[in-house]
Amino acid sequence: MTVGGPRFISFEGIDGSGKTTQVRALAARLRATGAEVVETREPGGAEGAEMIRRLLVEGDPSRWSPETEILLFTAARRDHLERTIAPALARGAVVLTDRFANSTRVYQGVGRADLRASVDALHSLAIGVEPDLTLVLDIDPRVGLARGLARGGTEDRFEQFGADFQIRLRAGFLALAREFPRRVRVVDASGEAETVAAAIAAEIGL
Ligand code: TMP
Repeated sequence: MTVGGPRFISFEGIDGSGKTTQVRALAARLRATGAEVVETREPGGAEGAEMIRRLLVEGDPSRWSPETEILLFTAARRDHLERTIAPALARGAVVLTDRFANSTRVYQGVGRADLRASVDALHSLAIGVEPDLTLVLDIDPRVGLARGLARGGTEDRFEQFGADFQIRLRAGFLALAREFPRRVRVVDASGEAETVAAAIAAEIGL
């Protein structure tokens, strides 16, 4: 990585956009340069936050209101920040997180309801930091949803909101990139994993 490059990077995108694969690929490239890299995720990334994750991603879609979701995601994020992200950045590691606050801005602030102002207010109260760089992996919502559902498992609460929800989310992420053009970059994630990984590496000057 170029000296002075981004050290706190979040990966964002709709369900099934390939973030998890790309976090792993970038971590491997960065480690090859000798960097210490922490791979983490949201909701989760710390013991308590992983407990909150289960409450959020499993079960009936109607289990929580969008307002309650904002509180729970932000509580999990605070724990993640305190216990994992801040200590890693303080010791000089690079942190790659699979989702951060932009997911709440889009999923709860645009997708579930029109609550962006509440998301931002709670963010500034409880979190107050942004990644140096956010990579939005952009993919056709139909492709993403099919991939996400094909994964199976019990963590499908948000996928159950359906195709229109994923379409709103994609528009929300693209709008965020226009709102914060320096910090938020869109990466075409429709190609092969290696092609996407190369585009990401180029984005951060590797
Ligand atoms: P994942 O499947 O990428 O691990 O994320 C879990 C789900 O939680 C995913 O459907 C997106 C959703 N989510 C939100 O709705 N708001 C948030 O703030 C975060 C971090 C995730």
